Amino acid sequence: MKSLLALTSLALYLASARGQAAVWQQYYSQCIPGTATSAPATAPPVTSAPSTVSSSAAPSGTSTPPAGTGTLKFAGINISGFDFGCNTDGTCTASAAWPPLTQYYGADGAGQMNHFVTDDGFNIFRLPVGWQFLTNDVLGGTLDEANFEEYDALVQACIASGAAACIVDVHNYARWNGEIIGQGGPTNEQFADLWTSIATKYAGNEKIIFGVMNEPHDIPDINLWAQSVQAAVTAIRNAGATSQLILLPGNNYTSAETFVSNGSGPALLTVTNPDGTTTNLIFDVHKYLDSDNSGTHADCVTNNIDDAWSPLADWLRSNSRQALNTETGGGNTASCAEFLCEQIVFQQQNSDVFLGYVGWAAGNFDPSYVLGETPTASGSTWTDTSLVAACLAPK
Ligand SMILES: *[C@@H]1O[C@H](CO)[C@@H](O)[C@H](O)[C@H]1NC(C)=O
Ligand SMILES: *[C@@H]1O[C@H](CO)[C@@H](O)[C@H](O)[C@H]1NC(C)=O
Ligand SMILES: *[C@@H]1O[C@H](CO)[C@@H](O)[C@H](O)[C@H]1NC(C)=O
Repeated sequence: MKSLLALTSLALYLASARGQAAVWQQYYSQCIPGTATSAPATAPPVTSAPSTVSSSAAPSGTSTPPAGTGTLKFAGINISGFDFGCNTDGTCTASAAWPPLTQYYGADGAGQMNHFVTDDGFNIFRLPVGWQFLTNDVLGGTLDEANFEEYDALVQACIASGAAACIVDVHNYARWNGEIIGQGGPTNEQFADLWTSIATKYAGNEKIIFGVMNEPHDIPDINLWAQSVQAAVTAIRNAGATSQLILLPGNNYTSAETFVSNGSGPALLTVTNPDGTTTNLIFDVHKYLDSDNSGTHADCVTNNIDDAWSPLADWLRSNSRQALNTETGGGNTASCAEFLCEQIVFQQQNSDVFLGYVGWAAGNFDPSYVLGETPTASGSTWTDTSLVAACLAPK
């Protein structure tokens, strides 16, 4: 989401990751109406009526003939926690990051991922983390090894779950403490250094996907932003991560709806690998389904097909490019089950240009969170939220 939204979620946990006894209360209050996107999950049919629609029964709004196979490459969930404390102005309180791992007094993110893979058929997880946590609040600093060890524990749990892919998502809204990367804030070199450090760690693992930046917004110059993204891509490839997917984010909270019209798509088309190709450079797009697209309401009002997914599919196809919907979702309500299932079916029908979706969110979110996708454990049995069961889960 665009960040921690309007709901207030109170999280209590004992003892920080570094062993300090502490009780934290985190309030997420968020922000912006505007664009938020999230929620994902793919799912071949089986569970709910809407999701079982075959590719020949296109939801309304399909302006192009279905071109996909009906099967998305990826379906997954965001495993949130290391991004707690991050706000849309790019401030992230490093000490507020809350590892969604039991050994760090968080939720059982590893157990959640194992369940999602084994019981639901999910195969991708997005693992948000604040830049400040990774460097322990030092801009331009190297990775803080103790903090990185904690984050890497979640990455390794994702890999061990059997998932096909694990997204390293730097959750800073194109900013560091209110200042925009390459446009008054951190230099492109500092941003590139961050990615060199991360990519060096994961260069040898094909399951890692590099999410350059979560939800840039209010970027004054989209062409300058494309240069910042280029700096990250070049850094990742030159660190030896030559074949993994890299996600390129546009403006307006990576809105799928305005990706082309607001200039993000055209600007990001210029980003290339060091060899001049665009192989495995995938556009990152978000979309929620509530009344103001903020991902803060329990009810959904649109499947986003006519306004967002259909025109985006046409544009991607005409440019021979692909996108991954790394945030989407809604409340555990009948309206969201209806519209999200329709959105996913449309993405499945256009799987030549859409790689998949990642729902927002599980991890350390309480199941009562309005967009909560956190399963509940009872003994060794996990129970999914209704939206995950109805639409997101592939099986
Ligand atoms: C996505 O997760 C990050 C990290 O937990 C969080 O800061 C952000 O608010 C989430 N997005 C939404 C829409 O909630
Ligand atoms: C951002 O995108 C949303 C839809 O996702 C749209 O309603 C809004 O007008 C856009 N804002 C800007 C500044 O383009
Ligand atoms: C994108 O949206 C912003 C905010 O509304 C606007 O200032 C800018 O001109 C738009 N860019 C394009 C290319 O439409």
